[in-house]
Amino acid sequence: MVSLSVDIAGIHLRNPTMLASGVLGISGKLLRKVAMAGAGAVVTKSISLHPRSGYLNPTIVKVDCGFINAMGLPNPGVDYFVKEVAIAKEGGAPVIGSVVGEQVEEFVEVALKLEKAGIDALELNVSCPHARAGLIGQSPELTYQIVKAVKGAVNIPVFVKLTPNVTDITEIAKVAVDAGADAITAINTVKAMYINIEIGKPVLNNVFGGLSGPAIKPIAVRCVYEIYRAVNVPIVGVGGICKWQDAVEFFMAGASAVQIGSGIAKGLSIFREITKGLEDFLEKSGYKRISDIVGLAHKV
Ligand code: SIN
Repeated sequence: MVSLSVDIAGIHLRNPTMLASGVLGISGKLLRKVAMAGAGAVVTKSISLHPRSGYLNPTIVKVDCGFINAMGLPNPGVDYFVKEVAIAKEGGAPVIGSVVGEQVEEFVEVALKLEKAGIDALELNVSCPHARAGLIGQSPELTYQIVKAVKGAVNIPVFVKLTPNVTDITEIAKVAVDAGADAITAINTVKAMYINIEIGKPVLNNVFGGLSGPAIKPIAVRCVYEIYRAVNVPIVGVGGICKWQDAVEFFMAGASAVQIGSGIAKGLSIFREITKGLEDFLEKSGYKRISDIVGLAHKV
């Protein structure tokens, strides 16, 4: 009998799949639904101190190899969102609060409010590829300051979600860990754009967006592999995971859990499909648990 449960930074997951921060994380009911559909944990949409209406439409466009989105971090603000946490937790899976802000104080205030509301862990979004808030994750100094301040304020685990839009992702991973990060989530979307050739204009209202989906999977796997060599905290892999084989690749690169973002376009059954595939794979290959394959690709 194989076991799919994993422990990440003190959080127990019945299986290693999580809902990535995104549109389904905006309400407690949706988060509960995803947890009940089999996700091992769910991550909220990034929550800011004040409500954000986001950018005007179009905010998302489908491209051949995935999606490009620039929603503009829309969310109802933390004072409204805290009411959703208890509903989300009814799903029976840990709820991780994604936090976004532009200044250290904002991150700390949102983090404290989410902790008080009973959230299980935090994921600091310092990596949105098209918002000012996302520039933080391109600066080692700002990343250090924010992680250090949040870690000094809360008692729950703090994950830090990194951007691939940097020269060396391990540099940012190392400073995040030096500042106290309990885990690294890698990666956020890749900065991208799409031009409608009929009208000769960028499609997204914001011009630039973040590419997600299968196209970014090899980039994400490479980032996880590099980060695994650079730091000693668990890594949560995210980027283009659509099937169990993708998840196995991330584990072998060094991830201890994976997040599904664009993959939910296939339906919420994706969580059960991936966990079933992982279970069969471990069984067939003679492994007992997920940790048996974490980092396997480094041992060659
Ligand atoms: C958005 O809301 O625009 C996307 C958030 C992100 O990529 O971090």
